[in-house]
Amino acid sequence: MLIEKGVITNQTDLTNHPFEMILLNKNHLDQIKELQSTVIEGLKDKTLCVYLTDEELVEILETSGLAVGVLVAEKLVAFFSVLYPGAREDNLGLDIGLSKGQLMKVAHMESAFIHPDFRGNHLEERMINHLLASAKHDIEWRYLLATVSPYNYPSVKAALGANTVIVDLKFKYNNYWRYIFFQDNQNLISVDDSDTVPVLNTDLDKQLELLKQGYLGLKVAKSEEGFYIHYGKKR
Ligand SMILES: CC(C)(COP(=O)(O)OP(=O)(O)OC[C@H]1O[C@@H](n2cnc3c(N)ncnc32)[C@H](O)[C@@H]1OP(=O)(O)O)[C@@H](O)C(=O)NCCC(=O)NCCS
Repeated sequence: MLIEKGVITNQTDLTNHPFEMILLNKNHLDQIKELQSTVIEGLKDKTLCVYLTDEELVEILETSGLAVGVLVAEKLVAFFSVLYPGAREDNLGLDIGLSKGQLMKVAHMESAFIHPDFRGNHLEERMINHLLASAKHDIEWRYLLATVSPYNYPSVKAALGANTVIVDLKFKYNNYWRYIFFQDNQNLISVDDSDTVPVLNTDLDKQLELLKQGYLGLKVAKSEEGFYIHYGKKR
């Protein structure tokens, strides 16, 4: 199903290309796996991104999720998905103490993969917006959760742009640091943003301390050293 059409720039040779953003189905599985491998192989820091297993990809495409992709000349150059984890033991609702009933209403924003040539077009943020709008009609989910590395500025920005806030910072997936992003779509978390505390993304101790005191991460701002997360108290 076609979601959006437009033109994007190949950052390697600066040529413009027409693209189509579509909802993906199981026929796209091989293209998704190929794109995922290209992206993971090209990562300088392999701890930034956890890939989706074949089983998870099939689950997303066939039963418990939704995926959007961007095609340029019929080739998949970007992919982003939502998974409804239900009774799975990696349901992120377990990390934040949701009850059994609440776990069934969780949606995970999964990893985004964009071909190196087509980064720089803000495709992650654009795919999230369409994905969440489409997912709204899909199942009755209420709680949106995601994990992102504290060293991954584009994905932190995209997750905060999707209206989630940082509620925790902890070791996940083979001891990699991850922010936990959360939002309750029926009872939006509201944070006092008049008096926020900016903390550099690499200062994990300070962020852990603030989160322990009940602060939530709500904004991101780039800086020369990295980026600052602005923490505020729940209203
Ligand atoms: C993360 C990813 C999906 C984002 O791609 P994208 O949507 O094309 O992002 P863009 O390049 O348009 O950048 C978005 C913002 O991040 C910034 N950015 C991009 N790469 C950056 C980097 N390596 N360091 C710092 N900032 C960076 C851009 O300057 C831009 O900032 P702005 O919005 O404040 O102007 C893509 O880089 C990717 O596939 N990376 C490898 C896999 C990965 O890490 N996936 C996510 C976690 S699993």
